[in-house]
Parts: sequence; C-alpha cells; structure tokens
Amino acid sequence: MAEIAGIGLGLRDELYDELLASDGGVDFLEIVPENWLARGRAKRLDRCRERWQLVPHSIHLSIGGPDPIDREFLDAIGRFNHRFDAPFFSDHVCYSSVGGIHTEELLPLPFSAEAIEHTVARIREVRALLDVPLVLENPTYYATMPGSELDEATFLTTLLAEGDCGMLLDINNVYVNSVNHGYDPYAFLDRMPMERVRQLHVAGHARDSALDTLVDNHGAATKGDVWKLFEHALRRAGRMIPTVLERDNNIPPFAELLDELELARRHARIALGG
Ligand SMILES: [Fe+2]
Repeated sequence: MAEIAGIGLGLRDELYDELLASDGGVDFLEIVPENWLARGRAKRLDRCRERWQLVPHSIHLSIGGPDPIDREFLDAIGRFNHRFDAPFFSDHVCYSSVGGIHTEELLPLPFSAEAIEHTVARIREVRALLDVPLVLENPTYYATMPGSELDEATFLTTLLAEGDCGMLLDINNVYVNSVNHGYDPYAFLDRMPMERVRQLHVAGHARDSALDTLVDNHGAATKGDVWKLFEHALRRAGRMIPTVLERDNNIPPFAELLDELELARRHARIALGG
C-alpha cells in the first residue's frame, strides 16, 4: 500500500521545473488536487509521480459547511487517488463554500456540539465515498465563531474520534492560534490524538502589527518556536510522522527550501534520537 515518509514539500507551479531538475532532498510531494484536475494538467504530475509519492491535500471539501457534499468533486478525487496511488486524502476542519460559491477560504466552524454532529455525519458520508482514508487538518482562525461552547482542543478531538478519521496536525497553526487566542500550545499538543496523526505541516507566519495578530501566511521560513513544538509533537508521538513544509508566498530560491527540509530532518533527529 502506498505510504509517505520523511520530509516532503507542497508542490507549487513555481517549484515544478527546479524540483524535476533536482537530485534529492525532497522525500514526497503534497499536491492541491483541484489545481491539477483541469484537462491535461494531471499529465505534468505523472512526471512527479515517477520520482515521488504524491499525497492530495484539498481546500474544496467544505466538510463542516451548509452545502451538500460535492460528489462530482469527490468522483474526480477518487480518479486522482487511483491514478497517483494516494495513501490518503486530506482537507481541513472548516467550511469553504456557501450557496454553491467556493470562497477559496478556510472558514472556521463554531466549536459546538451541533457543529460536531453536523460535521461527523458529513465525514461519514465522505469516508463512504472515498477508497482511501480521510484526514482532516486543524486550521487557523482569527475569530471564535458565535455559538462556540467548547474549547478548540475538545472540539477537534471529539470531532476526529466520532468521525473516526485521521488528523493532519499543522504545527504552525497550533502556534499561531495559541498566540492569537492566548493558550499554551504545548498543553494543546498534549491533548491531540497522536495515534490518529498521519502527517504534520510546518510553515512560516508573520505578525500583522496593525491588527496585533499572527497571520499564517506561509510566506517566511519556519520560526524557532514552531520547530520546538514540532520536536515536542514527535517526542509525544514517539515516532517520525511524515511532514510537509508549506511555502506559498515569498518563495525563496529552491536551495533555501532544501536547506529548510534538511533543518526539519535535524529537528526530527533531535526529538527522536538517531
Ligand atoms: Fe497546513
């Protein structure tokens, strides 16, 4: 069965040529499938699949949203998964479409029992339609939604347990949320169900000084506080978890990204020994 391992990179168009010309340093690639479903585009991924395991990571699913689950999209994802032998399919604990309009945003759900019940039913629906495991990521949120009655960790752990699905644990998102909402990120990580975690994300963030808020902009190198949390998560898991470096803005020279992947490996060795 297909599986990912090591330290991978989120594939962006800007990186495509240099990736294919590179000779090592990237263990696997994370792909936003909706960017590649247009006619002919997936052919470009066949060249990547010759060298790397690919894992699809979508922003389209809207798992907690009000619109019906987009079955046409899931059919396309099923074909994508089959073509590239995907180990699992991930999206976010959020909603992204309303009234048939896809916002391209990851909008936060209220942390409530009602939202859990609604979302768990949809997780079950999606799991029945997919032939690979469903994995959901903890997103950032810049406001707590009206109707929230639970803390974020309780909301996430209950949702993942009742939906019986995997978790993509974004370490940078934990850090950004902990600063913006005033909680201890280590205590938060200690509550996450590490046995469900199939993948980690690391990324950079920035401070918006006008709003006095950290913004998860994927536009800088991963910061030291996030690497410390990354080590803590691996120590808690007691195993290496496949990790993707996300970089979407201010993309640096390719060699710098390779250095950052190497840095991730160093932190993993510090955490786990060896
Ligand atoms: Fe992420």
